[in-house]
Amino acid sequence: MILLAISVLGLQAQELAVYQDPSKDIETRIDDALKRMTLAEKVALCHAQGKFYSNGVPRLGIPGLWMSDGPHGVRAEILWREWRQAGWEIDSCTAFPSLTCLAATFDPDMALLYGIAIGQEAAYRNKQVLLGPGVNIYRTPLNGRNFEYMGEDPLLSASMCAPYIKGVQQNGVSACVKHFAVNNQEWDRMSVDVEVSERALRELYLPAFEAAVKQGGVWSVMGAYNKLRGTHCSHNDYLLNKILKQEWGFDGVVMSDWDATHNFREAAFNGLDIEMGTSQRPDKGIKWDKFTFNESYLGNDFLKALEAGEVPESIVDEKARRVLRLIFRTGYSPVRHTGNQDYEGHSAVCRKIGSEGIVLLKNSVGSDNGKPLLPLSGWIKPESTILVVGDNATRRLTENGGSSELKAQHETSVLEALQKEYGERVMNVDGYSPMPERLSDQQREEWKANDEAKRLQTILLARTADVVIFVGGLNKDGGQDCEDSDRSSYELPYRQAELIKEISEVNPNIVCILMSGNAVEMNWADRTPAILQAWYLGSETGNAVADVLTGRMNPCGKMPFSVPFKLEDCAAHSFGKIAYPGIDKKVEYKEDILVGYRWHDTRNLPARYPFGHGLSYTTFKYSDAKINTTGNKWAVSVKVQNTGKVGGKEVVQVYVGKDGSAVPRAKKELKAFAKFFLKPGESKVWTFNIDPATDLRYFDEAANAWKTEPGKYTIYIGSSSTDIRQTLTAKL
Ligand code: BGC
Repeated sequence: MILLAISVLGLQAQELAVYQDPSKDIETRIDDALKRMTLAEKVALCHAQGKFYSNGVPRLGIPGLWMSDGPHGVRAEILWREWRQAGWEIDSCTAFPSLTCLAATFDPDMALLYGIAIGQEAAYRNKQVLLGPGVNIYRTPLNGRNFEYMGEDPLLSASMCAPYIKGVQQNGVSACVKHFAVNNQEWDRMSVDVEVSERALRELYLPAFEAAVKQGGVWSVMGAYNKLRGTHCSHNDYLLNKILKQEWGFDGVVMSDWDATHNFREAAFNGLDIEMGTSQRPDKGIKWDKFTFNESYLGNDFLKALEAGEVPESIVDEKARRVLRLIFRTGYSPVRHTGNQDYEGHSAVCRKIGSEGIVLLKNSVGSDNGKPLLPLSGWIKPESTILVVGDNATRRLTENGGSSELKAQHETSVLEALQKEYGERVMNVDGYSPMPERLSDQQREEWKANDEAKRLQTILLARTADVVIFVGGLNKDGGQDCEDSDRSSYELPYRQAELIKEISEVNPNIVCILMSGNAVEMNWADRTPAILQAWYLGSETGNAVADVLTGRMNPCGKMPFSVPFKLEDCAAHSFGKIAYPGIDKKVEYKEDILVGYRWHDTRNLPARYPFGHGLSYTTFKYSDAKINTTGNKWAVSVKVQNTGKVGGKEVVQVYVGKDGSAVPRAKKELKAFAKFFLKPGESKVWTFNIDPATDLRYFDEAANAWKTEPGKYTIYIGSSSTDIRQTLTAKL
């Protein structure tokens, strides 16, 4: 009876179809699946069917794709059609340090560790795509999303993003490198049209994406919101078809940024594979409350155009093939990755990366004991008192910031960690606090009076403390390192600079800890003996900071971007509004190839803290630099010795400059770096390989090709982009 019913319904026990057979290779399975699919089923693969979901082939049992932001942790679940959190109670995560912190480690092994851990959490939460890493180049300190990116140098971003991607993908979860490309500001991000020279595009803005594809083997790429040379990047033929797919041989999926699709023909023809996040169709008068996902540009319109023969079927076949490939690589892979949510293990990863990424910007003698203010263990006595000041000492900085917001399973604040460390000797006061929005006039006056009282109380307490730990910076509120809003000023917000100066007048032992993903104006820096750049460090914020403050961890992070003295010293701000934020929704990258330290160096315009800068509790001596130019590659070696009293890691940086170039070039560019540990007194000879064919080349626009100039080159080896300890010359 049962057998009869089963056969009537056509549900006989069957052999595995080719597409289902895990022993067959992916391309054979995809061919088979495609043959079985209707046109409508293929079209359905090409657009979202939920805020973070895109279709599989339900009839064939091929699963869809669940996606999640990225890039710092697996985001909490979001409602199906709205941007609010779904209110689940099993969707918390480990919040990893922001990508600027990861970049500041200058250590690709840290990126691999990060990728593995976050990929495990994504797999455990049943995600097939993790929306990260972000690799847009840091062009202006006002960009609200720099904290999600890896700084101003293409080699650094490229070296760090590839292992992150490999780590994520070894869990059967696709990384999705974003935002392709030139998404370097949030101002007018949906519409701004970027005009950038081909040379700057190739030399600065594309290398990290290329590394994501070629070295990282990334399975998906997210198009950017902005336009490049007149066409939106999420359906830009030049970027997606010509460069990404044809030139670089990318075989994965291009998805749009959320709501970044604007035009049916471009979406169909220009290389977009999955349209995500469309929530209305202004061209058809469909507002978000009436919109259903099938009304996406690559939904019903696409199907109709295919049926009418207006779009060749090969177009949908190509997209469907790529989407299937992504599904077969992830959720439908023969290997079932379940990942894990090992909070303890992942917290350790967090703490490690956080403490390796913190940058000691400055460390000089505080009051009168003749010792540098940090580490505290160097001078602090059992009876010494510590005053912790500042809103960021207690604020949950894993929240807010836009799509990278996280529901962290835990977040240890700096105050908590220092209390654990030093107990009752720790005093705390807010010092300053952000003014809440939407206050009535009277409330505003009351708030100001209260704030004034807090400041006074801070100064009184600061007089009595042995050391003041000021924890400030930005905070991921709108306009303070947050998606969709650039900062409106370079200054520290909430009158923090004023407070720091006032405190320093009554207590010279002040350590300033900046939490931010951006450079800030530091006209107060001369008043403070010690400054730490501590990013956003995620779940283990307090512990990572305490590790460095106490001296348990010898700081070894290096700045992934320059900190200009003033905003106008930054290249993007040197050419008026047309270069930032743009005029009439057009922005011209007039500084061309001279971004970050390339600009400061070439224009002899010192930065307050240069790219690559970061101090240690020990000192390193460089000597015996040598170069061997026989063979295809140049071998550059240098001896580094730890000359201090504690063990520590140094990041040795190798820059190369072309003397007397026929074309404008930066004075020098980072070409290699290495980070290693040395015990006190220990020395190591490190050898770097420079490949003239790829490392010395520039992009020749007239020839539309890379060129390597013969002649003399200078090799600069140092501890930062300006702290050059050894130079060499070589001839090509
Ligand atoms: C952001 C992306 C993010 C997506 C999904 C967009 O607004 O630009 O980075 O992945 O939303 O949340």
